[in-house]
Parts: sequence; C-alpha cells; structure tokens
Amino acid sequence: MNKTIAVFGSSRRNGNTGKLIDIIAKQLNIEVIDLSLKIISPFDYEHKNLDDDFLPLMDYILKFENIIFVSPVYWFAMSAPMKTFVDRFSDFLSVEELKGKGRKLRGKFGYVVSTSISEEIDNSFINSFSDTFQYLGMENGGFIHVNCENGFDLTGCEDDITNFVKKLNPYLEEVAI
Ligand SMILES: Cc1cc2nc3c(=O)[nH]c(=O)nc-3n(C[C@H](O)[C@H](O)[C@H](O)COP(=O)(O)O)c2cc1C
Repeated sequence: MNKTIAVFGSSRRNGNTGKLIDIIAKQLNIEVIDLSLKIISPFDYEHKNLDDDFLPLMDYILKFENIIFVSPVYWFAMSAPMKTFVDRFSDFLSVEELKGKGRKLRGKFGYVVSTSISEEIDNSFINSFSDTFQYLGMENGGFIHVNCENGFDLTGCEDDITNFVKKLNPYLEEVAI
C-alpha cells in the first residue's frame, strides 16, 4: 500500500494549488482527498458534530505514514477548508474516547504543498503547519511552495518538485515535469 496521502483544501479544485498537487500526486501515484467534497463542520466545543465526515476521514488518513497538507496561501494563512480540517484535530485533544486516535498522529510525517503570488512562503502560513506538526508529535517532512504570480508556471521549480517527490519516494524514476 502507498504510504502517502494528500489532503487538499482550496476554493477551486483545478486552480494553481490543485494543478501542483496533481503533478506531484501523479508522480507519487497517491490519492488526493479534496476537502470540499467532505462535510467537515467547524470545531464545536460541545462536540455535536462528531457524526460528520471528519472522523471517518481521519480513520482513513491515519492508515498512511506521510500526510501532505495542500493549501494555497489565503491572507497569509492556510485556506478556510484546511483550517477547518486542522481545527478539528482538537477533537482528539478534547474528547476522551478520541485521544487514542490523536496519539496515532505521533511519528507520522507532515508535508506542505502550497502556492501563492509571492516568491517566499509567508512565515505565518508555514509556521502554522510546522507548529501544528510539532504540537501533535508529528515529524516535519518539509514543504514545497510555488509562486503563481504570473499564473501557473513551473519554470524554475522543476528541481524543487523533483526533490520534494524524492523525499517521499527516493526510489522513484525521474519523470519529466
Ligand atoms: C482569498 C485570497 C487570499 C489570498 N491571499 C494571498 C496572500 O496573503 N499572499 C499571497 O502571496 N497570495 C495570496 N493570494 C493569491 C493565491 O495564494 C494564489 O493565487 C494561489 O496560487 C491560488 O491558489 P488556488 O488556485 O488553489 O486558489 C490570495 C488569493 C485569494 C483568492
């Protein structure tokens, strides 16, 4: 079984971030879960939403060793669907019966794939992921960021993509991007 899964949250499936993860996913032959197709409601202190898609989705994701979080930068932060998804990790911290599930995240590798219209990835964006990984006891696998200021153009990013893909599968034959 493939050890890697991508969780995608953007306001459009076939936009810049969607195109980037599709290229990476094709090379790695991995599944991309589109959060917009799931019903995941915001974190609820009263946990009245435990019957939505979050817990079954996590049961599935927890079977994988590497989790790629895929999001555009929206206002220096992760996209709203990704934030809603990440917020729900708090279910694992606050519902006694779910704490065991949360512990399963420990030792897993978290990666980030992002696009924006800036060359550099905003610290506010990337730190929110790396700090979350650390808090949850996950390993930080690294990230790839593509500047889409002039539209989706991978010129100059080919090596970054190859290196990112190789981190996840060192044995992969090099494929032209
Ligand atoms: C609501 C919104 C907020 C954005 N905020 C930022 C930002 O803070 N920094 C940035 O560099 N680009 C920002 N952008 C540009 C997007 O990050 C960029 O166009 C990205 O490639 C869009 O990916 P998508 O096609 O998956 O939505 C923003 C775009 C939108 C729609």
